[in-house]
Amino acid sequence: MTALPDTGTSAVPALNDLPQRVLTRPELRELVSSIADDPSAWQQHVAYDDEHRHYVCLHRDANVDVWVLCWTPSNDTGWHDHDVSSGAVAVAHGEVVEHNLVIGSAALEVSVPAGHSFSFGPDHIHRMTGVAEGSVSIHAYSPPLWRMGQYAISNTGVLRRTSVSYADELRPVDEPFPDDQERLRDAQIPN
Ligand SMILES: [Fe+2]
Repeated sequence: MTALPDTGTSAVPALNDLPQRVLTRPELRELVSSIADDPSAWQQHVAYDDEHRHYVCLHRDANVDVWVLCWTPSNDTGWHDHDVSSGAVAVAHGEVVEHNLVIGSAALEVSVPAGHSFSFGPDHIHRMTGVAEGSVSIHAYSPPLWRMGQYAISNTGVLRRTSVSYADELRPVDEPFPDDQERLRDAQIPN
């Protein structure tokens, strides 16, 4: 992850016209769409890595942060939330998939090709994966990301949240999950 210094005036026009307050979801969506449509804003930051997803912070101030994310089909954020932030994603090149967690059945998958965008509130839990080689997406969050929730689902379906820093790479949690049956057995109150 690379963070660019906030130098005041930006070479990206959309970043020079921010409202200096927390942005609404429509404003976030408009912001990411305008940056996605301007390759000069992000193409110099594009790089790909199957093992560690490549992303660069284009802008960060007290109200919003903006990122360019690069995707290969191997890249996977795992399940996560954005704590108190709303967000928006615009796909600039290629295609990504947004997965929405559904209790009791398979996740709902939505393909998002280049030229399309979506937004979400702080209540949203999702997972994003690359689908096309060489995909690029622009993300913005308001208020800016600080903490996020990373989720693990055990083989018995128990969901658990871990608070992580925005500077940590989101990825599927693959640490051994505690044995839920054993934990539940231990928690039973004796007669
Ligand atoms: Fe996300």
